[in-house]
Amino acid sequence: MRVLLTGGAGFIGSHTALLMLEKGYDVIIYDSFVNSSRKSIEAIKSILDSTSFSYKLKTIIGDIRDSAILDKVFKDSIKEEKPIQAVIHFAGLKSVSESISNPLEYWDVNVTGTNNILNIMNSNKCYTLVFSSSATVYGSSNSIPISEEVEVSPLNTYGVTKVAIESMLKDLYHSKRNLWKISSLRYFNPVGAHSSGLIGEDPKGEPSNLFPFITQVAIGRQKLLNIYGDDWDTYDGTGIRDYIHIIDLVEGHLASLDYLNSKKSCLEFVNLGSGQGYSVLQFIRQFELSTGCKIPFSIQSRRDGDVARCFADISKAKQLLGWTPKRSLEQICLDGWNWQLKNPFGYE
Ligand code: NAD
Ligand code: WQD
Repeated sequence: MRVLLTGGAGFIGSHTALLMLEKGYDVIIYDSFVNSSRKSIEAIKSILDSTSFSYKLKTIIGDIRDSAILDKVFKDSIKEEKPIQAVIHFAGLKSVSESISNPLEYWDVNVTGTNNILNIMNSNKCYTLVFSSSATVYGSSNSIPISEEVEVSPLNTYGVTKVAIESMLKDLYHSKRNLWKISSLRYFNPVGAHSSGLIGEDPKGEPSNLFPFITQVAIGRQKLLNIYGDDWDTYDGTGIRDYIHIIDLVEGHLASLDYLNSKKSCLEFVNLGSGQGYSVLQFIRQFELSTGCKIPFSIQSRRDGDVARCFADISKAKQLLGWTPKRSLEQICLDGWNWQLKNPFGYE
């Protein structure tokens, strides 16, 4: 089965590409490299080349807003008699702070870009889509653990674009019932890396997320970690989140694709998280314990837009997809640290 991965060179896309290739999928990565490196693709190939496994991978450089290139990718595949049968749509911009300072770019890339992909899928008769949504759609919901039933209420432009895309998916699905198979996966906090340590998360500039900041402190790229608040209404005062190992997250995508392939038509919104909440201090302690590295930190005031706690009710994913996350916080620390140690400056 040939599958197009938009944004397939990025953090989540590269891990998905690797696992799909290992499973025998024919993969096309479509990426502009605006927030990723070509080296992630070289690393995927070197992992696969180290086995005698033969695999089918193509890379196309292009922007999801460029209809001409995107349409050609679909048409060329049809000509080759290997039409694209599904799209996993990772491509998009994901910084909360940037989305507030540059909203038009976020609307353009995330919403217009997705509209473009849907149009081109439609005209090329490809109706199976897995979309990268986010727990950010839930905003500051007090209903913990958060189930898919909770009403969406995003707090920033990034989250608003994800909600807008989900609305577009609903409208599309309802306009052509019995045609589209769509799952919108709402990720919580994906972290960690592939066990090879050859692919991982490589934020540009200073990381805004907790885990890459911790590993950069451990490797000496950052002096200390700022903890944003120790006065939250949680047991140790620091924020609680749902950290999911990247490979568990990818396995959720594979299960989702299998689910879509088994259906005639469907539209599902599904949480992908570990289902467990850990505080910032707990995460630091686990990292120190697992790696032997000391993480100096300083308590700062709360960060704008943060919430006290956010973790997933994952019963829908378990029941619908037959998926369950398997990797512990310790495994996250070990694999993420292995990637950072092998690549102190990421891919560069
Ligand atoms: P990432 O930035 O590492 O990957 C996104 C990829 O999309 C990059 O390779 C980038 O170059 C590409 N891209 C961006 N704009 C593009 C465009 N206009 N045309 C073509 N390619 C483009 O991010 P990620 O962490 O792998 O996230 C993937 C998806 O998952 C995103 O849609 C993101 O919003 C969503 N998501 C991520 C997280 C997270 O914490 N990482 C959480 C929830 C949801
Ligand atoms: C986790 C906890 C911080 C950094 C963000 C996006 C969300 C999603 C995932 C894409 C919080 C604390 C963090 C630091 C800290 N992305 N923290 N010091 O905020 O849950 O989610 O990434 O969809 O949309 O909002 O993740 O890793 O930034 O923060 O104390 O230097 O760590 O306050 O409690 P968050 P995070």
